[in-house]
Amino acid sequence: MADGRFIVFEGGEGGGKSTQQRLLADRLRGLGREVVVTREPGGSPRAEQIRRLLLAADSGDLDPRCEALLFAAARADHATHVIRPALARGAVVVSDRYLDSSVAYQGVARGLGAERIRELSEWATDGLQPDLTLVLDIDPRVGLARAQDTNRLEAESLAFHDAVRAAFLGFAAADPHRVRVVAADRPVPAVAADVMAAVTAVLGEGGP
Ligand code: TYD
Repeated sequence: MADGRFIVFEGGEGGGKSTQQRLLADRLRGLGREVVVTREPGGSPRAEQIRRLLLAADSGDLDPRCEALLFAAARADHATHVIRPALARGAVVVSDRYLDSSVAYQGVARGLGAERIRELSEWATDGLQPDLTLVLDIDPRVGLARAQDTNRLEAESLAFHDAVRAAFLGFAAADPHRVRVVAADRPVPAVAADVMAAVTAVLGEGGP
């Protein structure tokens, strides 16, 4: 049986995460791998319920600490009921967002503290870390124009989204083996090629 691998797409709005996620899943299935495509907030039935609370446009008065705890709570359920079982049966899990989103949005951009928010999510998931995180990097001025829906977080100021972007770039600078930056303001196939190269390296790690 193949070893499970946990791959995460991160980045600001409009970087094309869901397109790249779909293309990567197709490529990996073509190689004979079982792929579980999932997302945060959400990914499990209970976490999808929490997602509705978090992204509702009318929850504008959501307390920032309540918000951070709800993201972490959703992640705990998702990790336990979807991600860990899939990894245990040897699947490749490809998630649209995970823990670094909480550190960037709640920890840095909302100012709740990067370390505290990282610890909260690590506690919530009992330390489940991705094998690879791909940051699809794009200027928020371009990304927000590309994003199709407008949820509560997308409606934040440009300064907020600039802070999110800087946070993701900082995670990659601090841990370049775990977190890779892929420039997302390029044609879809060029981005997909870089994504596949990074993922191929991770699939080979620890293999036969
Ligand atoms: P979504 O519609 O899935 O946006 P996207 O397509 O950009 O992923 O909404 C998710 C929103 O929630 C997005 O604005 C990022 C935000 N978010 C956090 O603030 N913290 C988190 O931990 C996660 C997972 C997402």
